[in-house]
Amino acid sequence: MVNDFPLFPRVASSTASDVDLLYFFLVAVCGAMALLVFVLIIYFAIKYRRSPANEEAIDYHAPKWLELGVIGVWLVLFMAMFLWGAHVFFITSRPPDDAIEIYGTARQWMWKFQHMEGQREINQLHVPVGQPVKITLASEDVIHSFFVPDFRVKRDVIPNRYTTVWFTATKSGRYHLYCTEYCGTEHSKMIGWVTVMEPSEYQIWAAGGTAEGSPAAQGRKLFERYACHTCHTADTQARGPVLTDLFGSIVTLQDGRQVVADESYIRESILDPQMKVVRGFQPVMPSFRNQLNEAEALQLVAYIKSLGAGAEQPSTAPEAPGTTTAASPTAAGEQVQSEPEQNRDASIR
Ligand code: CUA
Repeated sequence: MVNDFPLFPRVASSTASDVDLLYFFLVAVCGAMALLVFVLIIYFAIKYRRSPANEEAIDYHAPKWLELGVIGVWLVLFMAMFLWGAHVFFITSRPPDDAIEIYGTARQWMWKFQHMEGQREINQLHVPVGQPVKITLASEDVIHSFFVPDFRVKRDVIPNRYTTVWFTATKSGRYHLYCTEYCGTEHSKMIGWVTVMEPSEYQIWAAGGTAEGSPAAQGRKLFERYACHTCHTADTQARGPVLTDLFGSIVTLQDGRQVVADESYIRESILDPQMKVVRGFQPVMPSFRNQLNEAEALQLVAYIKSLGAGAEQPSTAPEAPGTTTAASPTAAGEQVQSEPEQNRDASIR
């Protein structure tokens, strides 16, 4: 029992020590500062106490060197905190490219996770040890917060947008998962367990899911159920943009803005299609906000992702009408797709 609530959480992720070190540094600086202040208060109170020899207060100004010295020391200390903090923040907010993906949705009052292999779980999360895991989080209702103290990761789960959290678990075992944002009556019961398994065990566990149950397969079903394919055909002249190889590509909007077709963009385009209308298309798509929950929106995102990722667009102007024939010979494989891209832009009526 006592071990369930240790004084300090275990170190069980690759970034936990980075966070701890920074934390200890801040505590040490604050502690030393508080100590210094109290020691000086007591010392001055005694030394300059009122006495017959010391009846009146004297106006005293510290020498310049002392003032500048104090300012300089604090400046260095605070800048060190800032740079160090920013460094740790960057590490903990940028998932590695080889991270395995998991979708999580929070609602009053539970956590739901979908694995790409098809496993789904509630208030339980299984992950392999030693491998980066990236969780894309969505909320069905209010603000929740995903918190695993032993991993030193905490990320708010906010309605109407995706947030991500990543970690590499370093030890197999079970770790407590909390909701750490007050979210209603049963907030305190919105807890669960992260089970970290050996990679081979995890493989076996993940194989328990069916391809049918994978988010992409579920998303495909939704795509058919809502007849998305009637507008989003492979025909570039169709009413909706072609979705093949859309994910990760750069999309030009009606007003000339360019956006990356990431998870958030695709989600928004499903739930609020009028927010970003692709250039060359009419704003005719209805909103699916009242028909889909966040878990389903994530499944559709997974499906669209499964249709292929857009050829990595170089930072140069992505559309140059008329250059359709110049199939740039980059990665020999995925070249065929460049044509529809060009046509789509050219089809402004
Ligand atoms: Cu969800 Cu607190």
